Amino acid sequence: MDAKILAKLSADFERDGYAVVENFLSPEEIQELRDEATRLVEEEALVEKRKETFAYSCSTDNDYHLGSNDKVRFFYEAGSFNQETKELQVEGKHSLAKIAHAIQKNPVYNKLTTSEKVKKVFKAINFGEPVVVQGMVNFKNPKVGAEYNPHQDASYLYTEPISVAGIWLALDDATLENGCLQFIPGSHKLPVSKRLIRSTDEKTGKTKLIWTGEEREYNPKDFVAEPVKKGALVLLHGLVVHRSDRNESDKPRWIYTFHVYDKTQGKYLDDNWLLPGDGNFISLYKPQDIAVNG
Ligand code: FE2
Repeated sequence: MDAKILAKLSADFERDGYAVVENFLSPEEIQELRDEATRLVEEEALVEKRKETFAYSCSTDNDYHLGSNDKVRFFYEAGSFNQETKELQVEGKHSLAKIAHAIQKNPVYNKLTTSEKVKKVFKAINFGEPVVVQGMVNFKNPKVGAEYNPHQDASYLYTEPISVAGIWLALDDATLENGCLQFIPGSHKLPVSKRLIRSTDEKTGKTKLIWTGEEREYNPKDFVAEPVKKGALVLLHGLVVHRSDRNESDKPRWIYTFHVYDKTQGKYLDDNWLLPGDGNFISLYKPQDIAVNG
């Protein structure tokens, strides 16, 4: 990535709240990340008895989900199950929604996450100390890959002031048919509309997740689709409004995504659903490293 690409990335990010860099991953890196995800699915997910579905809602306040902050855990698509029999109705390896929320600890994923070229992205947008807080592989497999409703990532990972950004890496071509990202350009200038936060259930004393704030209505016409080739990087501001369609195609849409906040700009709040645990928060560099290494 030369200086020109990084300057464009920074300008696009500032103006639109997101930026695309094609060919960020080499074919070898894509293969390595794909192979490791496949291995995890075949050697771990499919031998587990659990079949937790995943949906970002208050219904996710179970121990498996809350405890996934610092672990590699597996979540299934709701659409993979027969609603009546509750049995999987698609082949196991095509039925998963995601591996989450600490795949950045996995050696193969950690190598890419902490690579020099990733650091360059955060230096380009003036992050003084980027701290990775979560990482996941989203499969969006054919026919079962669910829609993601319009949202701001800061609703799930919040700092004061806002200093959250996401990196999204295409491990397949992401198209209109298989559910590429769609954005409202410039929407990162809006405040966060609502937050998912930790609370305590008065009856049981257990942690539960609740929503605060208001749902915001968006005009479907304001969304711009961003199809990208496999290997592309998309950088997302924590406030940019984005969504993706259900995968109606017969092609998968695998991606690796991780989220970062800038410790020199924002304070990570302890009412976030995802908390620091065993090694899931990874500092990519310190402010003094910029002065020394540029
Ligand atoms: Fe998102």
